[in-house]
Amino acid sequence: MIVDGKHFRSLWWNETRGVLEIIDQTWLPYDFRTIQVVTLQDFADAIREMKVRGAPLIGATAAYGVARAMESDPSDANLERTWNFLEATRPTAINLKWALNRCRDALLPLPESDRAASALRLAHLIADEDVQINKKVGQHGLEIILKIAQRKNNGDPVRILTHCNAGWLATVDWGTATSPIYQAHDMGLNLHVWVDETRPRNQGAITAWELGKHGVPHTYIVDNAGGHLMQHGMVDLVITGTDRTTRCGDVCNKIGTYLKALAAKDNDVPFYVALPSSTIDWTVRNGLMEIPIEERSDAEISNIQGISAAGKVDAVTVTPEGTPVGNPAFDVTPSRLVTGLITERGLCDASETGLLSLFPEFSDTVG
Ligand code: MRU
Repeated sequence: MIVDGKHFRSLWWNETRGVLEIIDQTWLPYDFRTIQVVTLQDFADAIREMKVRGAPLIGATAAYGVARAMESDPSDANLERTWNFLEATRPTAINLKWALNRCRDALLPLPESDRAASALRLAHLIADEDVQINKKVGQHGLEIILKIAQRKNNGDPVRILTHCNAGWLATVDWGTATSPIYQAHDMGLNLHVWVDETRPRNQGAITAWELGKHGVPHTYIVDNAGGHLMQHGMVDLVITGTDRTTRCGDVCNKIGTYLKALAAKDNDVPFYVALPSSTIDWTVRNGLMEIPIEERSDAEISNIQGISAAGKVDAVTVTPEGTPVGNPAFDVTPSRLVTGLITERGLCDASETGLLSLFPEFSDTVG
């Protein structure tokens, strides 16, 4: 993605220093800061504190974390310790486990002397694949946007609502929900994006920052506005990302996604979910019962971060002192509310049959 004329991925390997560099997303949209992730503890902190965030990006970061751990101690015991240490950072996005499993499966059969170099090559591969996969997700999602644009037939913008940040910053590049949006914009299609604020972490501000840098017209709205806009015919399409998709097509994504899906259903607005297949948990059938929902800190709810007129990034408290708060970070949208899934292999119904029609190699995975 281009930021002020320079191409960026959301993470990259600094060959000279032998470290991973990331965009520290806790400073966005106020400041664009890149930092180095050096120790294994740095990797865990970056994921847990959401310096990197978004399911695919968490997975790619963890793969580099394994590579770092293998440099100092490539033993089986350390591989297992590293797997457990990184897996414990965030519970909901399955890409974390997917990437760690992929690393473990690839490294365990190798002699210890080969593991560090192989782990780094694998981390590069996972990152590069993520870029290609999300580009393909975008190509397939573009078909949906083009159909809506054709129906409009008068050049009016296709109005797309998105929740959270499923943009290039949530992946290595392109994003999932935003990939079709960027590709439609790049081919000259008239678009307008409704960007949900996504309290409490306000990932919508990151989406607005991304879209702004790319020149995509958009409007930032509070989370509760989506239903109203849909009732008034102001949304043609909803596209979100997902942190874990069950083999039956339930979708676990940022808290509030479910309410958007309900509003979309009630107003006949198509509700699509864009995902790389690394986000499918083939072992899970019932999203509501089986997916662990991350509970984050009280401070994320009782405080709100922003930038003052003097340019200082600070947090203020919005609740009365001592107010008990709850902070479930994700919710599950049942497949019946999802119009379709957009994957790197094409579009499908949000169902086991739909997913297996694109990924038949998983038909025997026990779910
Ligand atoms: O808590 P976050 O910011 O990591 O949550 C991110 C999301 O919920 C995204 O929508 C999801 O990871 C899909 S992004 C490609």
